[in-house]
Amino acid sequence: MAKITKLEDIVSLCKRRGFIFQSSEIYGGLASCYDYGPLGVELKHNIKKAWWKAMVQMRNDIVGLDCSILMHPLVWKASGHADKFADLIAECKKCNTRTRVDHLANHAEEHTEHVSLDLAKVTAADLNNKVCPNCGAVGKFTEPMPFKLMFETQMGANVDDSMTLYLRPETAQGIFANFRNVLDSTRVKIPFGIAQIGKSFRNEVTTKAFIFRTREFEQAELEFFCEPGTDDKWYEYWKQHRFDWYINLGLKKENLRMRDHAKDELAHYAKGCVDIEYKFPFGSGDWQELEGIANRTDYDLRQHQRGMRTLNAWFENKGDLSKIQLKEEAEDYLTGPLSYFDDEKKKRYIPYVIEPSAGMDRSALAFLVDAYDEEEVRGETRNLLRFNHALAPIKVGVFPLVKKDGMPEIGHNIHDNLKKYFTCFYDEKGAVGRRYRRQDEAGTPFCVTVDGQTLADKTVTVRERDSMEQIRVATNQLLQFFREKLDV
Ligand code: GAP
Repeated sequence: MAKITKLEDIVSLCKRRGFIFQSSEIYGGLASCYDYGPLGVELKHNIKKAWWKAMVQMRNDIVGLDCSILMHPLVWKASGHADKFADLIAECKKCNTRTRVDHLANHAEEHTEHVSLDLAKVTAADLNNKVCPNCGAVGKFTEPMPFKLMFETQMGANVDDSMTLYLRPETAQGIFANFRNVLDSTRVKIPFGIAQIGKSFRNEVTTKAFIFRTREFEQAELEFFCEPGTDDKWYEYWKQHRFDWYINLGLKKENLRMRDHAKDELAHYAKGCVDIEYKFPFGSGDWQELEGIANRTDYDLRQHQRGMRTLNAWFENKGDLSKIQLKEEAEDYLTGPLSYFDDEKKKRYIPYVIEPSAGMDRSALAFLVDAYDEEEVRGETRNLLRFNHALAPIKVGVFPLVKKDGMPEIGHNIHDNLKKYFTCFYDEKGAVGRRYRRQDEAGTPFCVTVDGQTLADKTVTVRERDSMEQIRVATNQLLQFFREKLDV
């Protein structure tokens, strides 16, 4: 029976085994930024690979994209991020710590990634009985104020034409901005999707819980374009598809749930939104968002049509977005450049969009937490990660039992052969029991040991991680054996 995992156990295993390190640790660390070590980078790569396989490779109706992080500033004006992507914060007058107002108001139920500025109705008086999470002072908050979440940067060396850009806070807008390009350069027909995996950046007020909420993170997003009127059906479809993806990769059903957003929680553009939540082991063992699935209607494509009409005004005021008013929607917007013409139905419309948006770092944390286990084996505690085979950073460990009698040579041969197909690890140092334990902690599903019997009959011991069962397999059958077992 799996032990209830504490976050500290995961953090310490991640550091000990080289999954995740604090960024810039040798300089004291950089808050809320993390680096993936040798095992972590393989794990995250496998999660992204599994997402891409399910969302692009196995689909006839989805194509991929990789957009630049820096985009034209009007993108963020049109999307609403330049004006509205902010959290409402209040500062503690005693210790100067800033806290999100929604976290103060609703500390135990911290669900949203960011809150709408509609919360601006909240005043300092409403925070009279609220406790500063940093110093414990009660009711010492300033009037709430908006805090913009996008990181700014300057592009260009010349003062005259340098301009302020943003690091993207979501990958989605790059997809909308390329909607026309994809339509014109491929044979896609609605319904179809465009998928992208990439880094996003948010100057979060509250970062927390290891890699759960960071300022630099990776998202995997699908924008699925469909005919208005079919959006409810596709929304239901993607909810189930995305929930099943996590289950099929081994997350335990009892730790995963869907939570529909209440009407007042919905973003201004969304017709519906559901969070896939995971029972993370922090706070009170709270359910927290792993992925959001939203019906974004035709909001984004319409907004970008407005943005395109506003381009000339931007050239005049270049750089100062705050002075630019987005042009009104043209009366004929339905036939605008981001509209779609359905050949068969002889109909033109702006497609609706269903968006499953997943966090890759948050997924990595959920898969780590869910896979972590401790058990007693012959009076000793065995720590292990019961990763799904597709996610395991190393698929096969290869060991010679001892460093003599030709065993290392045979081990190297096996390793050289298998590593063409799977991520493998060769280890000849220390007692074999300890080598098994190290691979258990790395989540390696199989280990191969070359021993005395190998010299006599050309078989090796294959030991399985979860059951610790050992069987003998002929060396010339190993590749076939792992191809069948690992199915990757
Ligand atoms: N395009 C929609 C969008 O960005 P979101 O709910 O803000 O929606 C989607 O983000 C997912 O991205 C979240 O469910 C979460 O997994 C991940 N995410 C968002 N902010 C994050 C942060 N600061 N750190 C880590 N992951 C984050």
